[in-house]
Amino acid sequence: MAYTYDYKRKLVSVEEALARIKSDDCIVCALGAAEPNGLLEQLHTIAERVTNVAVCTCLPMRPFKWFMEPAMRGHFEHHAWFFSANIRKAAAEAHTSTYVPNHLHSAAFDRNLYRRPTVFIGSCTPPDRHGYVSLAFSVVYERELLEAADLVILEINDQVPYTWGDTIIHLDMVDHLIDHSMPPFELPSPEIEARDRLIGGFIAEHIEDESTLQLGIGGIPNAVAGALMGKKGMAIHTEMLTDGMVDLFEAGVVTRAPRSMDKGLMRGKMVAAFALGTKKLYGFLDRNPGLALMRGSWVNDPYVIAHNRRQVSINTTLEVDLTGQVCSESIGHRQYSGTGGQSDTAIGAQMSEGGKSFIALYSTAEVKQPDGSRRTISKIAATLTPGAAVTLHRSNVDFIVTEYGAVRLRGAPINARARMLISIAHPDFRASLQEEAEKLGYL
Ligand code: COA
Repeated sequence: MAYTYDYKRKLVSVEEALARIKSDDCIVCALGAAEPNGLLEQLHTIAERVTNVAVCTCLPMRPFKWFMEPAMRGHFEHHAWFFSANIRKAAAEAHTSTYVPNHLHSAAFDRNLYRRPTVFIGSCTPPDRHGYVSLAFSVVYERELLEAADLVILEINDQVPYTWGDTIIHLDMVDHLIDHSMPPFELPSPEIEARDRLIGGFIAEHIEDESTLQLGIGGIPNAVAGALMGKKGMAIHTEMLTDGMVDLFEAGVVTRAPRSMDKGLMRGKMVAAFALGTKKLYGFLDRNPGLALMRGSWVNDPYVIAHNRRQVSINTTLEVDLTGQVCSESIGHRQYSGTGGQSDTAIGAQMSEGGKSFIALYSTAEVKQPDGSRRTISKIAATLTPGAAVTLHRSNVDFIVTEYGAVRLRGAPINARARMLISIAHPDFRASLQEEAEKLGYL
């Protein structure tokens, strides 16, 4: 009789799985679309019998009660590697959530140093007959922390894609399984505005054929993907795989033919640590041998990225000062998002032969005032807002791009940086920036 792995003996209900969680546990939860929705929806129901349970997440997609409700304080403490609108609200109002500073490539290693997980929760595909499953969407930190945890609980979701790479694990590594079928969370591509197209065009001018791409999150990277439609022989080595990259593949811009691709690592494959987007992307991922989802500690290690030739990194930011300090994760002291892999990918790209890194931003932002009105500010500022977190150090900055142009700060002295940045600021703010730069002694 053919060998078949008996996974059914591991099946439990959500309630039975939650019964295994106890006070002082440290739970690590899979990222984004890989989150185990059945468990996270019910986690708050054990609040009365547990205290001091740490739950470590990255981009949870829904407003779960265990961190949104003030009554959960003391029962659960939410450690977030990346803030979203829900977590910003929870941190400000329910005081349940706190940010974990990190670089994506070292998040798993650093977490183990601080506090080893006792429980790992995530989701996976149904098993094959040998008992292997795919973690589907993400191995940013999941693989290492699943291996480090005492108790591993996965939800089997028959609606998630089967992806290849470090996502494949054997069910011998898992203690409990829960049947939980549901459509995976989708992140629609943001609308592309006219200024996104301008920025995309400025960046595309500096990107050569046969480059390897990393594109970040948001409207600007999406517009860059659109602006690259005329390029040839491009490859992908990125932290996050997006719908824009599928468009580039379908248009023949990204190719898997190894000879036409000058990529140094994993020729012929698109490489990423996680995927987030729409059904179109998820359909593309499913059983696609042209893709490899590899652990974040490898994909985003700057020394690994450096092995690709002409690696290009494109990310966005909230604020840049006139010396080139880049703040992409906080508005003043208020945590807005996270470092993610911005610093990893920018540094890795500059270490690669012929590589370039781009930080793109709109020249202005409309900032909400306490009375509800909006005030226009320049996102290129003489000094960062007090409390701002520096995401990319000024010694690691390369190109900065707004809808007024692209300037290359790498290697340039402070006076030249200030002049270049003023030249791509919104025209309404150039005179005041010039005045402040002179006062600060930059010019
Ligand atoms: N001062 C005050 N408020 C500002 C601001 C500034 N300098 N710049 C932007 N804002 C406000 C905007 O007005 C907007 O407010 P709203 O939500 O009330 O409209 C909000 O901040 C978000 O700005 P926006 O430009 O729309 O951000 P985004 O959604 O495109 O995200 C980042 C941009 C930088 C937050 C995001 O790319 C990020 O978190 N990056 C860091 C991580 C990273 O790059 N990882 C690697 C790739 S995955």
